[in-house]
Amino acid sequence: MVKKRACIFISGSGTNLRSIIKSTRDYNFPINIELVISNKKTAKGIHYAKKFSIPYQTITNKTKFEHFALRFIRLKKIQIICLAGFMKILSKDFVRKFRGKIVNIHPSLLPKFKGLDTFNRVLRAKEKFTGCTVHFVDEKLDNGKIIIKKRIPINKDLSNKMLKNSVQVLEHKAYSEAIRKIHNLS
Ligand code: GAR
Repeated sequence: MVKKRACIFISGSGTNLRSIIKSTRDYNFPINIELVISNKKTAKGIHYAKKFSIPYQTITNKTKFEHFALRFIRLKKIQIICLAGFMKILSKDFVRKFRGKIVNIHPSLLPKFKGLDTFNRVLRAKEKFTGCTVHFVDEKLDNGKIIIKKRIPINKDLSNKMLKNSVQVLEHKAYSEAIRKIHNLS
């Protein structure tokens, strides 16, 4: 199988990155992670890039992030970009350059609860179900075509932290499933 050359963008703890790395150990997984880019120096996720000897770059310059990212992406001949807890909004220009090639994971059942502070808003709204969504990125926030959604019931008295943990367990399955699904569709 010819595997696609992937770059993972992160900003934080990198547990989704870790789950994708695990999947890449499967011979039939359709991508190889050629590069990890973090926009935060302190992102814990960088640890996984180091641990698994994946090349990584930290780009903290806010205005030039995309400029530098583009350079590395071209150098590494990247074919797919996976946003995994990447908390910076990409410009329309950047998204257009990679139309259909940028994927994101969001901790809600989109189109519900786009944006930040998702778990608190889900709890306040007394939703009966929540989950996660993997989708293509378009010019609008948390808006592109949906690839996979996974849902769980919300038990009464669940704290924000408990909800976050449960949704993240789902996310770790959903991201790799979505990557496989995109491959099977193309
Ligand atoms: C994940 O829950 C992801 O859905 C969320 O950030 C977390 C990152 O966790 N992303 C967003 O909210 C983007 N809108 P991780 O760094 O451990 O993968």
